[in-house]
Amino acid sequence: MPDATPLEALATLETQGLAELASAAAEEVAVRAWNTKYFGDKGMVKAALAGIGKVAKEERAAYGQAANKVKVALETAYAVALEVAQEAALQKSLTTDSIDVTLPGRQLSPGKLHPATQILHKIYGIFADLGFQVYRTREIESDELNFELLNMPEHHPARDMWDTFFTQTPGQILRTHTSPGQIHVMRERCPEPIRVILPGMCYRNEAISTRSEIQFLQVEGLVIGEGVTMADLKGTLTAFARRMFGPDRQIRIRSSYFPFTEPSIEVDIDWPKDDPNRDRLTKGTGWLEILGAGMVHPIVLRNGGYDPDKVTGFAFGMGPQRMLMLQHAIDDIRLFWGNDLRFLRQF
Ligand code: DAH
Repeated sequence: MPDATPLEALATLETQGLAELASAAAEEVAVRAWNTKYFGDKGMVKAALAGIGKVAKEERAAYGQAANKVKVALETAYAVALEVAQEAALQKSLTTDSIDVTLPGRQLSPGKLHPATQILHKIYGIFADLGFQVYRTREIESDELNFELLNMPEHHPARDMWDTFFTQTPGQILRTHTSPGQIHVMRERCPEPIRVILPGMCYRNEAISTRSEIQFLQVEGLVIGEGVTMADLKGTLTAFARRMFGPDRQIRIRSSYFPFTEPSIEVDIDWPKDDPNRDRLTKGTGWLEILGAGMVHPIVLRNGGYDPDKVTGFAFGMGPQRMLMLQHAIDDIRLFWGNDLRFLRQF
């Protein structure tokens, strides 16, 4: 038998293609495989179109036209076949995989706020009721704000209370407490009165243990205005302690030392008598320290832009994680940032 002419070969391509497509039988996968075979990069239609180079010159025009017709015919047939196949698949899934609306829904597992965030929110709520705004400041701080402007010049022995992380930029450190926020807010608000809390993460270069972590939260408080006194500080902290720890709480004030306050105090609360942990927590005294505070030192007021002859202020600093540990008898501070869901889910 003589070889088929190029035009005959095109006709065969068309009939064969249509036949194969028909036998793909409305199966989407098979229909798509057919498409690759005919229209893929190495597909038969492409090869036929490229074959024009081998056709005798005088037949080329006719060949080109015929090849295009075949291409369009197969393309159109493919589009139809694909639609039929997809429709069939949809019908099948609607009938055989129908939804059983009587099945119980899938259990959602809603997230929860981290216990540290929860207690922060509680603290914000209490101070909001007392007229305090939340003021946030940076965690990477200058040595100047973290120490110097808080009345701790270089080599001041009080700096020993804070083991500091230094960055590679000279003078830039991770803040060891939220107190530098006092300077930021004073410089922004001066000469207006101030009533803010400054919450946030602090960092200290500590050996990690059940009692100390290298990062922890603090909430600082700052009030500045004409005629602000220690009595205001005491009233504010009493109100806070009662909202936080229970309506019958008493606070006890002991004299203390911080470079940025004068006088400085430490504040204890009486621990409920019915708590079996009372003796252990309070070392038998019945009192537990909850925060440090004091009247803002005149030097600090001046560094913030205020005239200490005209205004006074009080400040305090507390560790919310420590408060949570007390309330829930948590004995290991590392649990806070350990990401152990068994711990976190209990709150
Ligand atoms: N910054 C202190 C610390 O980290 C806590 C503190 C004490 C803050 C007394 C205050 C304050 O504002 O008045 O240990």
